[in-house]
Parts: sequence; C-alpha cells; structure tokens
Amino acid sequence: MRKRIFALVVALSALISSTCVFSATQSKVITVREGASIQAAVKLANPGDTIEVYPGLYKETVYIDKNDITIRGVVVAGEWPVMDGEDTLNDGILVAGHGVTVDRFFIRRFKGNGIMTQGANNYKIINNIVEGDSVYGIFPQFSNNGLVADNVIWNVHDAAIYLGMCENADVVRNDTFGSVMGIEIENSKNILVENNTAHDNSSGIQVTLLQGLPVKTASNTIVRRNFISNNNVPNFAPRGSAAAGTPAGTGIVIFAADDTVVEGNIITGNDSAAIVMVDHDSSPNVRDPEMDPTPDNAKIYDNVYWNNGTKPLGAAKDVLEQAGLKEGFEVMLVTKSKGSCIANPSSVRVFGADQFTACPDGATSAGITTMQLSEPIAENLEQTEYNGRFAYKAICAGCHIYEGRMVGPPMRVIQALYMDRPEAMAQWIANPTHKRDDYPEMPPQNYLSEEDRLAIANYILNDLGKSRQLRQSRE
Ligand code: HEC
Repeated sequence: MRKRIFALVVALSALISSTCVFSATQSKVITVREGASIQAAVKLANPGDTIEVYPGLYKETVYIDKNDITIRGVVVAGEWPVMDGEDTLNDGILVAGHGVTVDRFFIRRFKGNGIMTQGANNYKIINNIVEGDSVYGIFPQFSNNGLVADNVIWNVHDAAIYLGMCENADVVRNDTFGSVMGIEIENSKNILVENNTAHDNSSGIQVTLLQGLPVKTASNTIVRRNFISNNNVPNFAPRGSAAAGTPAGTGIVIFAADDTVVEGNIITGNDSAAIVMVDHDSSPNVRDPEMDPTPDNAKIYDNVYWNNGTKPLGAAKDVLEQAGLKEGFEVMLVTKSKGSCIANPSSVRVFGADQFTACPDGATSAGITTMQLSEPIAENLEQTEYNGRFAYKAICAGCHIYEGRMVGPPMRVIQALYMDRPEAMAQWIANPTHKRDDYPEMPPQNYLSEEDRLAIANYILNDLGKSRQLRQSRE
C-alpha cells in the first residue's frame, strides 16, 4: 500500500489552497475550509506537509497512508472542525503512514473508530474530542512509538482509548468517560498511562493479554497518577463481544498481563473493587496455548483508595459470595500470580492477600518519565513490504482473534468457510454483507487495494494459526 502511487489530483478545489513555507525541505501548508474534502488535501500532500482544517462540518473518512503528515484542526473563536460520521460512516481518521500527527479535531458518530492507526509508527494523537457511538474511540493498532495526549473521549461501546499490540507509547492527560472501558492497553509492551481521568465507564483502565491475537505477551505498563472514579455504568458492549465480558464497577483490571505497575492513582467510588487481577479462565474465550494465562509480577505501589468495593457487581460479587463474603475489597486477586507485590499491605483491603509480598519500602516507578523512544523508529521489513501478515495484524486483528470471539467471528471458522477461495474473501471484505444476526456488520475494507486485500486473504488462509497447529500436532 505504501508503494501505491497516487493519481494526480486534477481538479484543485477552490477551497483548498496551498502556501509554500520556505524551508530546506520545502514543506507546505495545505488549507481546507468547509465545503472542501480533507481527503483531497491528503492526496495533494507530500511527506513533511501540514494540512490545516478550518471550522465546519466534514462528512468523510480520511485515510492517510503517507509518512510525516500533520493534520491539524484550526479552532476559530471556539468553533472546531467537526468530522461527522452520522452513524453511517465507519471510521473518522485512519492512519497507515509513519510519523503522522492528528491534532485538534472534533470527531463524532462514526460506527467503527474515531481515530485509528494501522501499523503506523511515531504517531501523535493529541487535543482531539471524540464522541461515540464507536466501537473504539482512539485506537492505535500494531503501532510503535506513539503519543496519545490531551484528548477527550466518551460514549464508546468498547474502549475509549484502546492500544492493541503496541509498543512504547505514552497515554497521558486524556479524559475518558461514559464508555465500556476508559483506557485499554492490550497485548502491548512498554506503555505509560499517566495523569488521565477514567470516570463513569463500566471499567476504568484495563491492562490485558487477550487470547488468540498474534502478539502473545503483554508486559511493562505503568498506570500512574490517574483519577479513576465511579466506573459503575452497566456494560453496554455488543452482546457476545469480548468487551461485553468486562466486569462493571472496576477501577483497574489487570487481565493476564505481566509487569504492570499501579502507582499514585486516586481510585474512588468503583462499586466492585479498585483493582482486580484475573487470568484467562475468567473469560469465555479458550486458552491460547502460546500465552501465559496469569498476571504476574504486578507492582501495586502507593495509591489512594476511597469508597471502592461497596456494592460488588457481577463476577466480583459471585467470587465473594462463593467465599462467603459480602463486603467488597479494594484489591481483588482472583487467580494465581507470581512475583506480585503491594506497598504497605496492612493499609489496603486485599482479597487474595497471601499471594502478594510487601513491595520494598520506597519502591517507585518515578524514574521512568516516558515510554516513547528518543528517536523515531524506522519501518521494519514486514512494514516496508506491506505483506498480508503485517496488514492482518495492523487491521483485522483489531476485531478478530484466532479462536473465540472478539468483535467479529473467530478466524478459525473463517478459514474453514473460505478454504481455497482467497479471491472470494478479498472481494467480500471490500463490500461485506450482514450475515450473522448475533454480530454487528463488518465495516468495508474498501480503502485497501485489491492486491492488499488478496495478500491478507492469502495470509489468513495459508499461514494464520499454523505455528499453533504445528505445536499442537507435536504435543
Ligand atoms: C471493526 C471490526 C472488524 C474489522 C476491523 C475486521 N472485521 Fe471481519 N468481521 C467483523 C464482523 C463483526 C464480522 C461478522 C459480520 C457478519 O457476519 O455479518 C466479520 C466477518 C468477517 C468475515 C466472514 C465473511 C463471511 O462470508 O462470513 C471475514 C472473511 C472477515 N471478517 C475478514 C476480515 C479481514 C480480512 C479483516 C482485515 C482486513 C477484517 N475482517 C477486519 C468485524 C471486523
């Protein structure tokens, strides 16, 4: 896709003007005003350019597959550029180029994602407002070295901010509320989640290792100095989806992820518990033989807990009832865990306390101030070639896992359905029909070229899950 040559845009809308800023790189500023298309401006842009979008209503999906583009809303006298999906378009802004900044847009009513990156490194998503009804609000997927900062997101039916299979990112100073999850860090590594608010969601912040995804570990997330309050909204994720299994009333959930630090947060008013640690047996999806199912090595340092666990709901309630308990806890460890510690244990009400050691006095993560890398990272080979495996991870794995259900049906079932017909799959995904009553519609992937769609289909049919089958046949 990155090799695609863009057709020359012949007709230049009168509303798009471009000003040359004289610099060594000859980067330019392209201006978009109401009535013009942002996508048309993206077509005109070259790496290094900035696209400035003025206040007005824009009803389109913007797909950026060029590197080093800044797309920035210009707010004039309090008026924002508004991208409106009118509950019919799927995605607000899709980013597939590296080094892209998305700054200061009001994005609302897209069905799939507000802003998504697909295998795009060195990204910055800053100062945006995202109002659902989306599956994901801000969604970096399979993207490394990024920043998600100063955004406001609400009314999202899964996670308001969702990092899937990402490495090295800072998620800071965002406000997330009225969603199923405020922030979810899934199958990711080296992530700092700091100074955010997550309030009035079903669950505040989750650090998870989801079964069936191609990245098999989740480790080293710091959840620090966040305000996590009153996350008691009944779970309104689509029935049967992975998010629907998320327990309401929870401040922070650590689901099978390792090396999570929880420090300096203010966690209040979450009815089930402030912090819950669970393993893969707590979810309906089958265990992934290539994953370690338990959350190990968590460091729960000093946090402020107040008024949590007062009315345990759902799964937390069941666990407590089975143990003959009525009162909730601040921290609930509902699994085995190796190497986890809790600071000042006598000051915290802990379920499963015998599995924690006391953290060493004065232990802190304060020495780590960012997880972003000091230099932008280059594309790896998989990314430059834009092969089917890379595209699968960057796009499809946002909704499909190999076995079991995420947003869409299991890939194992899809493999059987399409067997030797990659062309048929490549065609269907560009123009999906609604097939299954118990699933939502799949968004069309028609922004991908036929060649790219076929590469993905071939990867799914020929390679996906093969390492696992090989292992299983050896066992
Ligand atoms: C936003 C979530 C989402 C994304 C992203 C997504 N899918 Fe889907 N997919 C779904 C859902 C939901 C269904 C079930 C739709 C139905 O049955 O009506 C589905 C169904 C399918 C099917 C079944 C078709 C059939 O004939 O039954 C195939 C094949 C498929 N997806 C392939 C892909 C591929 C390939 C990608 C990546 C390019 C992808 N999907 C990305 C959600 C998604």
